[in-house]
Amino acid sequence: MTRTPLIAGNWKMNLDHQQAIATVQKLAWTLDDADFDYEGVEVVIAPPFTDLRSAQTLIDAEGFKLILAAQDLSDQDHGAYTGDISGEFLAKLNCQYVLIGHSERRMIHNESDQLVHAKVLAAKRHGIVPIVCVGESLEQKNAGQTEVPINQVLEAVKDTGISELVIAYEPVWAIGTGEVATAEQAEETIRGIRESLAEQVDEGLAEKTRILYGGSVKANNVAGFLKMPNIDGVLVGGASLDSEEFANIARFREHIGV
Ligand code: 13P
Repeated sequence: MTRTPLIAGNWKMNLDHQQAIATVQKLAWTLDDADFDYEGVEVVIAPPFTDLRSAQTLIDAEGFKLILAAQDLSDQDHGAYTGDISGEFLAKLNCQYVLIGHSERRMIHNESDQLVHAKVLAAKRHGIVPIVCVGESLEQKNAGQTEVPINQVLEAVKDTGISELVIAYEPVWAIGTGEVATAEQAEETIRGIRESLAEQVDEGLAEKTRILYGGSVKANNVAGFLKMPNIDGVLVGGASLDSEEFANIARFREHIGV
């Protein structure tokens, strides 16, 4: 089965809503100038919450083919949850995807596997496709705990009945460090995730789920990952803030020569 590659940019807590407008415009124009094949590759951006309305208005008005994601959502739909954002609001802003369980949320905000699971259910309720982020820390890697990302995926999706899912494998030691996993390392873990998903959740879901690699991805290293049979895209942090660099990452086929 062919899975449409997905190139996602996680802006994290960078770029205010005015900078977002300029960045989205430049990204779309750069891709349009290059006759980018949006049918063949999905390009997703995940700006901060306060940028989403500006980005959505611009994308709608200009007919840009960029897809919006949020960086998080509440496990609740509405009520007395100060500071939280409901999936219902995100769906109204045409967010098609939402990042869930990014390692920065797990570490800085102590998000547990249980909360990640509840957020996957919240995304499902509102028709938003979760991009579930998983990955082992340096200590876990050194201790040979290769099962960590697999267990995180299973905890997130078991008993959810979810039918559309994206997973991002982001080894924590490779995030923002410039220390990139080798394509072979990433492929091995991602293949393991897919096999476990097939064995323990659903074979059809495992077959169609896009599994991305993330961690210090740049235009000059993206091709190696996307040549791998199980790696269906990338989740890019720092390099997604530069529209030209991100557009070059999205144009990975030109680096591969296919
Ligand atoms: P960097 O690309 O900056 O390493 O960040 C990766 C990431 O955390 C994307 O979600």
